[in-house]
Amino acid sequence: MRSLISILDLSVEEIDQLVNTGLDIIENPAKYAHKCEGKKLATLFFEPSTRTRLSFEAAMYELGGHVIGFSDAGSSSASKGESVSDTVRVVSNYADIIAMRHPKEGAPLVASMKSTVPIINAGDGGHNHPTQTLADLLTIRREKGTFGNITVGFCGDLKFGRTVHSLIDALTRYKGVKIVLISPDELKLPGYMKDALDKMDNITYVETTSLENAMPELDILYMTRVQKERFFNEADYIRLKDSYILTPDKLENAKSDMCILHPLPRVNEISVAVDDDPRACYFKQVFNGKIIRMALIMKLLGIE
Ligand code: NCD
Repeated sequence: MRSLISILDLSVEEIDQLVNTGLDIIENPAKYAHKCEGKKLATLFFEPSTRTRLSFEAAMYELGGHVIGFSDAGSSSASKGESVSDTVRVVSNYADIIAMRHPKEGAPLVASMKSTVPIINAGDGGHNHPTQTLADLLTIRREKGTFGNITVGFCGDLKFGRTVHSLIDALTRYKGVKIVLISPDELKLPGYMKDALDKMDNITYVETTSLENAMPELDILYMTRVQKERFFNEADYIRLKDSYILTPDKLENAKSDMCILHPLPRVNEISVAVDDDPRACYFKQVFNGKIIRMALIMKLLGIE
């Protein structure tokens, strides 16, 4: 039985397979309409979500399967003090596969040790978010054709942004990747991640506070929201929340084929005036998220 807790649980070949299945689903959706008939997905969301939960649910419905679950820890037995381990042991009896989001880093990993069905980490605190990364990778493949020899700028909350952590982990697998880390000093990429990058010779990174200076060399600009819910102190959040706001004038120095990604939700960090720019790919990313989750559910259920 396979779970997906970190993007590094998948080999490069497996990521390629998932992306290729995704491309085939886009071309031939009817072929997949009955693949998960009789199967149930449980979505256990202990933290708010729109895209991740609904895209998992839409993915399962499009595969002909069923969905059960909760979208609010307050309506689950967690509010009575039940442990994550007990909750998944119970839900393993009801569902064939579980997607779980939890505010505590490591909760889906603990769940995977107790579950008798595959667990998918749908976001654990400020740690990882591997299925957003799969959505990002499918988008990069469709827009750029490759994962190697690209310069990727990550801008915003690189400290708490779990989507950033997982996508950087994924990119360490490819050759010729340059990462530009654009953040305020207080929201830099965690030291343990930079230490890991320092040891690799297929990937380089630089840190800067200036989006303007970084812009001209980027093939991909990955904007992120400052993660309000991870701050201990509201004053710090208020001071940092508008550190970067992408507006059309800031794109004047960007490559004409740069691809702008954002895992969403956006708060203020991309002006709506950017949405009509052909480089804005964040709503395409949403579509790709549903498609790649279809591919992932089939893979973890062992369905060809
Ligand atoms: C992200 C998350 O939950 O980490 N959202 C998502 O799943 N697309 C990003 C965010 O909340 O900022």
